Amino acid sequence: MKIFTTRHELQQYLLQCRQKGETIGLVPTMGALHEGHLSLLALARRQSGVSVCSIFVNPTQFTNPDDLQNYPRPIEADIAKLTEAGCDVLFNPGVNEMYAANEQWHIDLGELEHLLEGKFRPGHYQGVTQVVFKLFDIVKPDFAFFGQKDYQQVLVIAKMVQLINLPVKLVMVPISREAEGLAMSSRNIHLSAEDRQHALVLSKALAWVKDYFSGNNLQQVTAEAVAMINAEPGVTLEYFEIADGETLLPATEANPHLVALVAAQVGKTRLIDNMIIR
Ligand code: PAF
Repeated sequence: MKIFTTRHELQQYLLQCRQKGETIGLVPTMGALHEGHLSLLALARRQSGVSVCSIFVNPTQFTNPDDLQNYPRPIEADIAKLTEAGCDVLFNPGVNEMYAANEQWHIDLGELEHLLEGKFRPGHYQGVTQVVFKLFDIVKPDFAFFGQKDYQQVLVIAKMVQLINLPVKLVMVPISREAEGLAMSSRNIHLSAEDRQHALVLSKALAWVKDYFSGNNLQQVTAEAVAMINAEPGVTLEYFEIADGETLLPATEANPHLVALVAAQVGKTRLIDNMIIR
């Protein structure tokens, strides 16, 4: 695996690949890689000539300085995982390589920016789009792969791609779950054994809603899922909503695409999860 820490060297290399007619698949990550990331990479490898994984803990998308500081950064273990998984290129820049001082960024993402995650993490999606735009600009990927676990992030990035008319095809890859259902996340590293047990209520509530949604009981299944999560010790619910799968606006039973999304604090760790209901 080739490892680049500067944009210039990465761009030089990718230019040669493009000249040979290779397509490029990008998997943007913040590291602390798990099976979920590796499933994105496997698809990137299958679908493109050159697979590029970026590892960059992007400061502009963190709304809490402690969260940024405590974000796991096991770079040696990540390099070993990527090498074993057959990744072609790792881009691992430092903050100064990605940002000049006092850079400004704003994109009008409409309501999508302020719903759900946006309500709890104001400014988060401006930071995400800022860095993903930069990564797209540097790598110029034909395909970019994102996990369904960050469902709202995928919609936000799709909106940016559409607004700026970027020549990249986005691929959303299904959530990877641990045996008991917990959605894989770099943040799971912070869960104690007890937290992990409590956290299972999130995927259980989502699966329950998927099973019991009959087409005309949306409010009832939502209320029951909320009650189920609220009854779990150690879990503080932030939101549980069944939303329109394309806009994330509150859904009615008539919406053709429905997704249930949840966020909760489990012990000291904030977790999100979702499930496509229809
Ligand atoms: O999903 C993530 O890990 C990050 O939000 C992303 C897309 C790599 C941007 O920093």
